[in-house]
Amino acid sequence: MCGIVGHIGPNNSIAVVLEGLKRLEYRGYDSAGVCFKKELGELDLHKKMGKVDNLKEAIAPLEVESHTCIGHTRWATHGEVNDLNAHPHLSDTITIDDDRSISIVHNGIIENHNELRLEIKAAGLKFTSDTDSEVFLGLMVIELLANVSLHDAVINSFKKIRGNSAFVIIMKGSREMLSIKRGAPLVCGVNIGSGEALVSSDPYALVGTADDIIFPEDDVLCSLSVEHEGLIKFYEMDKSESKRYKLKKQEMSLEISDKGDYEHFMLKEIYEQPHLIRALSQYYTLGPGKELLASIINESPKRIHIIACGTAWHAGLVIKNFIEKIARISCVVELASEFRYRDPILFTDEVGLFISQSGETADTLAAQALCKENGLKTFAIVNVEGSTLYRECDYNLLIKAGMEIGVASTKAFTQQALTGFLMTSAMSDTLNADNIAQKFSLLADRIQDLLDNVTNIKEIAEAIYLHKGFIFTGRGREYPIAFEGALKLKEIAYVHAEGYASGELKHGPIALIDDLMVNIALISDELYEKTFSNIEEVKARRGVIVTIGPENDKNAISLSDYYIPLCLEGLEELTPLYMNVATQLLAYYMAKFKGTDIDKPRNLAKSVTVE
Ligand code: G6P
Repeated sequence: MCGIVGHIGPNNSIAVVLEGLKRLEYRGYDSAGVCFKKELGELDLHKKMGKVDNLKEAIAPLEVESHTCIGHTRWATHGEVNDLNAHPHLSDTITIDDDRSISIVHNGIIENHNELRLEIKAAGLKFTSDTDSEVFLGLMVIELLANVSLHDAVINSFKKIRGNSAFVIIMKGSREMLSIKRGAPLVCGVNIGSGEALVSSDPYALVGTADDIIFPEDDVLCSLSVEHEGLIKFYEMDKSESKRYKLKKQEMSLEISDKGDYEHFMLKEIYEQPHLIRALSQYYTLGPGKELLASIINESPKRIHIIACGTAWHAGLVIKNFIEKIARISCVVELASEFRYRDPILFTDEVGLFISQSGETADTLAAQALCKENGLKTFAIVNVEGSTLYRECDYNLLIKAGMEIGVASTKAFTQQALTGFLMTSAMSDTLNADNIAQKFSLLADRIQDLLDNVTNIKEIAEAIYLHKGFIFTGRGREYPIAFEGALKLKEIAYVHAEGYASGELKHGPIALIDDLMVNIALISDELYEKTFSNIEEVKARRGVIVTIGPENDKNAISLSDYYIPLCLEGLEELTPLYMNVATQLLAYYMAKFKGTDIDKPRNLAKSVTVE
């Protein structure tokens, strides 16, 4: 979703910010802009609908350098996608003297923007966009017109808004860049050697420039200036110095953003899975994760609430099966956006388990806060170390997936589910290093075989991608994969797909079946006969059957129009994770035939930081 980058320092801030915005492209956006200071401090605004490259092209002929610049990638929430609604926003210099003209970028939502808009209009100010963000600018102008300081203007305006937001602000007559947030991601970075300071919504934008990264807490005013010793100062809302931030050495490297020989990041990430699965088993049985798993052996909650969104929620459904079957602990899986608003019944001897790739999904964070308030222990299965979820939970189980750039999550799903398996093994005290190494290695080998032989999947994708609709079905262990397979296809191929429990077909969806409808059926040794007869029911109604099932299963092969054979032997409870890779590849190749923007599908964002 919206991305923020700000930079001050001796290097060209415009170039640093544009590079940062390019890095944030993976998060999803529809327009981009920058505002920088010219030689005498005047604010120069440029914004464009579409890709960051459009913006770059528009600025290139200017051949300007600047040492203070803020930039933004917008994912529209209030107001349509156009140049005017893109950020940054610039104050109206007719109502304010030139020296105090200000520019802001915003990530989040101002929930009370309608009432504040009336207040601002009543003060005689005009709006040039339809965004909620411009309301913050209006509030600041009112403050500045009342002759308060820049710090007070930010603080007073920030106190008036409701909702989760992060802002970065610059003013012509000030050498500071200010930033503040509540409930939205924000990270600062410094490179003392080169005298540069940065602020962003994502640490990835700071890689290569900042050596130290700093995570401010909510309601801390961050002031970046080359005049400050240490380049950044932090203040509380009462203007006293703040210590509410965490400093960390930069550990990310730029190599991760290289696609290598792969055509898309998504494909690269699918192919990384065998290696990551092996590395995960090492990390938790022999490496630094071992101690963490040992520490949860004593945890025996009455019930576990798994809470997540999107693909992470599907991983939660897989993990629920592990928890209930292996640890025999009662477990419920909840969508974060529903959980937070339905006044759930919670007890202090229960655990909230939050699954998130980014660790920044707004609904998941709100659900975690709710569990914490109710006295539950909170666990995270999370990819981004240092993310808000990571910082807020009692236990953090890292999934060690590396950076995931494709918007449609692939490797993170597999790693989330496997981390859940490790957690379950620890909780049930059945964790055996050799056993885990063997299981994970078998899964990695099987996935590798599949990845080495994709011709069949490509051919099937070509044969079916123009069909009317796709129903994914599975039972028991495979049921969550029906959901995840359908989601992947919707996300990147823009076709209608639904996931169903095989047994539910007769309760409605079977009415959709005809010779243009495809049933992608997942079948394994678990509940084999029942699943098989569900496929027969679809076949009897002339539906097109694509089965992902055991190799050499003559009956299933002859029943199906297309067959993806998998060697399932010995995989047991990890079978769904193998089958899921087949659905990832099928979705990928169908999207390729359709010619969609696979890594950055329309309307989607990698990290959903608003409700
Ligand atoms: C977005 C992404 C999905 C992801 C979901 C949850 O919708 O596009 O890929 O599964 O958010 O994100 P999280 O970072 O919490 O796993």
